[in-house]
Amino acid sequence: MAGAVVTMSGVIGLGLAIPIVGGLIPEQSSASGTWSPLTKVELGELETATQKPVRLSFSMTTKDAYLPEETMEDYVWGIKVDPARFQAARPDIFNGAGGKADVPYGVVNMGFVIFSPLCPHLGCRYQWDSSAGQFHCPCHGSVYNFDGAHLSGPAPRGLDPLPLREQSGIAQLMWIRYKSTTPDRIVISYQS
Ligand code: FES
Repeated sequence: MAGAVVTMSGVIGLGLAIPIVGGLIPEQSSASGTWSPLTKVELGELETATQKPVRLSFSMTTKDAYLPEETMEDYVWGIKVDPARFQAARPDIFNGAGGKADVPYGVVNMGFVIFSPLCPHLGCRYQWDSSAGQFHCPCHGSVYNFDGAHLSGPAPRGLDPLPLREQSGIAQLMWIRYKSTTPDRIVISYQS
């Protein structure tokens, strides 16, 4: 995607946070999708955001059987976090032995967490309500706090984290779709 790069200075800045969060990051993600770059401008917003999520745009290429390859625009939500505080705030993710995450990749990367934009209830797109300081889903009223923890409504779990990495000076995310309506995170599909 044109312009979808992060400057090296930005990456160096991000790199300062890596040792702090290293305990939450596996050496290598074992998720098996492909990676999409994030835009430099929006990632810059995320670097400076506190207690305010940032909507991050990206493009992904899909190929269905005999149909031509197609590029789709989508978005995710990103938050800037203190790793220890975030882990304490999301027991629905870090629920394995010794606080191990229930997803096969680092949840906090470079000091950020990326959320799927799909509500874990039935997959609607939730939005950030800045006056309430919460994420609200318009479909059936599920509410999540800044950390994505489920506060109220019919959703069975908190917001789903997605993989994030830096590769050759470019910040990239992986799109994963999780099954809705279940307390456990069950992968339905990866971007491939
Ligand atoms: S899809 Fe979000 S509350 Fe139902």
